[in-house]
Amino acid sequence: MFLVTGASGGIGRRVVRILRDRERSVRAFVRLTSHYGELEHRGAEIFIGDLEQQKDIHKACQGVQYIISTHGSDGNPLALDYRANIELIDQAKVNGVQHFVLISVLGAERGYEDAPVFKAKRAVERYLESSGLNYTILRPAGLASNLLPLAERFRETGVYLLIGDPKNRTSIVSTDDLARMVVDSVTVAGARNQILPVGGPEILLREDIPRIFGRIFNKEPIIINPPLFMIDGLRSVLGFINPQVQKNLGTFRTLLANEFFCTTEEIANLEAIFGFELETLEHFLRRYLAV
Ligand SMILES: NC(=O)c1ccc[n+]([C@@H]2O[C@H](COP(=O)([O-])OP(=O)(O)OC[C@H]3O[C@@H](n4cnc5c(N)ncnc54)[C@H](OP(=O)(O)O)[C@@H]3O)[C@@H](O)[C@H]2O)c1
Repeated sequence: MFLVTGASGGIGRRVVRILRDRERSVRAFVRLTSHYGELEHRGAEIFIGDLEQQKDIHKACQGVQYIISTHGSDGNPLALDYRANIELIDQAKVNGVQHFVLISVLGAERGYEDAPVFKAKRAVERYLESSGLNYTILRPAGLASNLLPLAERFRETGVYLLIGDPKNRTSIVSTDDLARMVVDSVTVAGARNQILPVGGPEILLREDIPRIFGRIFNKEPIIINPPLFMIDGLRSVLGFINPQVQKNLGTFRTLLANEFFCTTEEIANLEAIFGFELETLEHFLRRYLAV
């Protein structure tokens, strides 16, 4: 039995699809408010709970052999990125879990002080590494599925909002490829007890994204490029109203202000470990947008 957290999310729902296609039994950890109809339809066991509740994590972990942690922060990195994952790891030990797969983030080890999600991910990585469990930690850059709503907006308006330096490099990974790596991590020997940076097959500049949209929809992109200090201004204003939102925006700012890409060697290593060729961003988008 596989326990998948964040099973209704961008990565999690793809992980469940692959596992069910392979006829593996899956327990999908969802909330009452999550969209889980598809997971149920595919034959996943639906576990309704809240990852902020220890007792829900305890119950969900009973009798599972594999744990795949793909849930997001939901504005509370301390409770979800940190505490929930620590609890999942502890329960994995209690239940004799054979392999634990954690979705971390590219750059988790860089020590960004102002980015609570990065700090939580790194602390959990360390905890998992020293847990004695078999593990795989995947550190993705951006996910291609996040760009689908932006592409739909671009299709209608031709406008793309690019905050910060357009020349910053990024390695957007196909969310389907990532889900496949997540599932294969429990069986592929080269992924055992590894921390793997995960990106797509090409290093893109952030300004390449609207260009790709332009090619796909045959439209000249109108790029609106506000400088990063506008985010800083917004953060200061929000800080007066809600200090927590101001803190959480630190992770967002970190993502905008820095480069998150994998080297050619890292991608070649990934393809060698998992034995398949990674999909480009343009290929992913064309498949989903049917153009
Ligand atoms: N997006 C990126 O570009 C990116 C890049 C690097 C790493 N990552 C990491 O990848 C992981 C997944 O990202 P994603 O984009 O697939 O996330 P996502 O689509 O936002 O999904 C987040 C999932 O977490 C669930 N969740 C949130 N709070 C919960 C709670 N209290 N109890 C139970 N479930 C809860 C959500 O449930 P609901 O459906 O009920 O909301 C949803 O299924 C995250 O760990 C993220 O840090 C993402």
